[in-house]
Amino acid sequence: DGEVYKYYADGEWKTSSSGKSVAIINPATRKTQYKVQACTQEEVNAVMELAKSAQKAWAKTPLWKRAELLHKAAAILKDNKAPMAESLVKEIAKPAKDSVTEVVRSGDLISYCAEEGVRILGEGKFLLSDSFPGNDRTKYCLTSKIPLGVVLAIPPFNYPVNLAVSKIAPALIAGNSLVLKPPTQGAVSCLHMVHCFHLAGFPKGLISCITGKGSEIGDFLTMHPAVNCISFTGGDTGISISKKAGMIPLQMELGGKDACIVLEDADLDLVASNIIKGGFSYSGQRCTAVKVVLVMESVADEVVEKVKAKVAKLTVGPPEENSDITAVVSESSANFIEGLVMDAKEKGATFCQEYKREGNLIWPLLLDNVRPDMRIAWEEPFGPVVPVLRINSVEEGINHCNASNFGLQGCVFTKDINKAILISDAMETGTVQINSAPARGPDHFPFQGLKDSGIGSQGVTNSINLMTKVKTTVINLP
Ligand code: G3H
Repeated sequence: DGEVYKYYADGEWKTSSSGKSVAIINPATRKTQYKVQACTQEEVNAVMELAKSAQKAWAKTPLWKRAELLHKAAAILKDNKAPMAESLVKEIAKPAKDSVTEVVRSGDLISYCAEEGVRILGEGKFLLSDSFPGNDRTKYCLTSKIPLGVVLAIPPFNYPVNLAVSKIAPALIAGNSLVLKPPTQGAVSCLHMVHCFHLAGFPKGLISCITGKGSEIGDFLTMHPAVNCISFTGGDTGISISKKAGMIPLQMELGGKDACIVLEDADLDLVASNIIKGGFSYSGQRCTAVKVVLVMESVADEVVEKVKAKVAKLTVGPPEENSDITAVVSESSANFIEGLVMDAKEKGATFCQEYKREGNLIWPLLLDNVRPDMRIAWEEPFGPVVPVLRINSVEEGINHCNASNFGLQGCVFTKDINKAILISDAMETGTVQINSAPARGPDHFPFQGLKDSGIGSQGVTNSINLMTKVKTTVINLP
């Protein structure tokens, strides 16, 4: 009906002077669902100025007061799940139940962050000079953690609310101001979430949410001189952001090709249920999804049979009906996935199900006998397609995992804990899960990628630390 969601700046909801909007296409219906403001570079400049001055006062606001406001925002968010959950369903086709879970998880993350912040930021260190050679006890060094300034948060489409608050809450508790640039798919969910922070009563200008086309304001935002830290989750855009960004801390998570290594002694039912959960939840659109199964030949038939039986039970359809498999986020994404599937077909992979696609909806697909010359052995589909590579030794599995340009997470299934630890040590990934599918949560665990999967470490504590700098004051005795 032409209604365009407003953007948030200076504690108010505003219409962009551009007079333009960005359409958000519902992945399932492929029709325009919402519209948001296409903000201009001048509006970005205005928001940055506000963020800079609001941050100065915020940094002086007592830590307990900052925590109190965050707790308030968490409660408001949890009390107002409906608009966010509903827009997640419409904008990114996330199943209804999972959309609610995302909001609840986000509220919990904010509260945890407030609690963690008051503890770790409320502590400093005290050092004495005489422990270093040549010094007497004449210098007392006090350390504390100070905010960086303005943090720019850019979350991805697959967790627009949760991966936004996982950047916002640590930034705020640490005394930073925050500029949020939501993904286009997911922008309305972000705006609803920001409204919860607005209702909590944070100072004007401290939080802004600027919507628009990445092509128009993306570089302008990430290269803006007022920005003191960028926290980004998404695809390889992150690599170009990191090349262009200034001398500021970066926290980036840029996808993965998480391997699931299955040894001969593994509990194969556990393996099958984790391949289903890991490979097909939210239709495989998670950076931590199982993206390649590396299974010992001797148990491969059994694993494939068990997974196949479970795939047959997955429901496919609208997110409103809580279907297990829903439309992938966009037509271009569906086309990309199809390209990987067709390449595997030409090169002789075994299709455990028939390939089926209607619009952006792709039926779950398990590909057996995938070989290293197939694109799907290396590229991330970000869709409901799981390739199985049969291996003849554990080393072969580890080598495949380590040959990837990604290094986010991985998992290994075995009853032999000693072997599991050795394999974990050998896998070049930020995290290895033993006997479970990869996952970021619980959200206070450290979360990081090696190689092209990212820089910096996330998780509540690490994010707070990353968004601060150590400051020291030295008392010199006569
Ligand atoms: O898509 C990337 C997310 O960080 C993965 O989070 O493991 O909770 O699905 P998740």
